[in-house]
Amino acid sequence: MRAVVLVGGMGTRLRPLTLSVPKQMLPVGGRPMIEHVVEHLAVHGVDEVVLALGFRPDAFLAAYPDGRCRGVKLRYAVEAEPLDTAGAVAFAAGEAGVDETFVVCNGDVLTDLDLTELVAFHRRSAALATISLTPVEDPSAFGVVPTDGDGRVLAFIEKPRREEAPTNLINGGTYVLEPEVLERIPPGRRVSIERETFPELAATGRLYALASAASWLDAGTPATYLAANLRHAGDAPRPAGVDPAASVADSVLAPDARVGPGARVERSVLMAGARVEAGAVVTDSLLGPGTLVGSGAAVTELSVLGAGAEVAAGRRLRGAHLPES
Ligand code: GDD
Ligand code: MG
Repeated sequence: MRAVVLVGGMGTRLRPLTLSVPKQMLPVGGRPMIEHVVEHLAVHGVDEVVLALGFRPDAFLAAYPDGRCRGVKLRYAVEAEPLDTAGAVAFAAGEAGVDETFVVCNGDVLTDLDLTELVAFHRRSAALATISLTPVEDPSAFGVVPTDGDGRVLAFIEKPRREEAPTNLINGGTYVLEPEVLERIPPGRRVSIERETFPELAATGRLYALASAASWLDAGTPATYLAANLRHAGDAPRPAGVDPAASVADSVLAPDARVGPGARVERSVLMAGARVEAGAVVTDSLLGPGTLVGSGAAVTELSVLGAGAEVAAGRRLRGAHLPES
């Protein structure tokens, strides 16, 4: 089976990290996010992934020059300008000549979803499209999807106010689609699958959804991107550049990251070439590639340092984005 994976967004909420690296190429546990997504698809029999690319396609092409990722064949569909989620699906599926039931997923969702079960449910319901749902505490940042007892979607409400959400089951960002859905997406302009296509399909009675209790996370914000990484804390050995007199706990460090004596790093991500000098403190923060935290500085409370950013010795950053974005 084939899958279209949406990886063309601007990653606005993860700026300034995403100014230099597209969101799905940012590392999660030391490997680009997209590899976790592709690996999960492969487990469920997906043998070809079409990457729907827009913003910074070069990073993907450079990382997988032979067109393979985790044993899966990759194809690239590069939009000339952003087409939004449905426009991107239609364009990518068209470029790849998709003419059978296929899967779509948001490239920033990390999940153990039973995709095989979702496809079986889709076929049993003779649906045009089927959405995987996941429960969340606050549905207001997501697509909210009420269904009837058979799983037929009654409405699709993208990012409602919290008090207006009829359920806490939200669009998990994985879909099974019939090729007929593509004909309903007007070509050549921005079309949102959440705001246009799904509400229209819901009205036909052939849009279905199935809830899943599998682990699920949208790694698209600093807090959730950090959380996705911290699941891998301790997977890799302590890098050689960490001074024996430094304290590093519950963090993910690139193999060439350096931490000086007396420094403390907790619940944080240090990407390739990041350096924390003597006596500095880094907690709950994201340090992009080639960043430098000067001696005695403190970078805390979900601070985000973009590639090459430098924090002067002794400076204190709390929840800051550097450079500002
Ligand atoms: N190719 C392409 N072109 N991809 C795009 C475009 C575009 O114009 N716009 C967004 N994308 C990609 C993003 O890169 C991301 O992988 C995916 O589409 C979803 O965009 P996000 O910006 O991450 O959306 P969201 O997290 O606010 O909301 C979406 O995901 C939620 C689940 O995580 C929606 O689908 C919600 O309904 C859903 O609940
Ligand atoms: Mg997202």
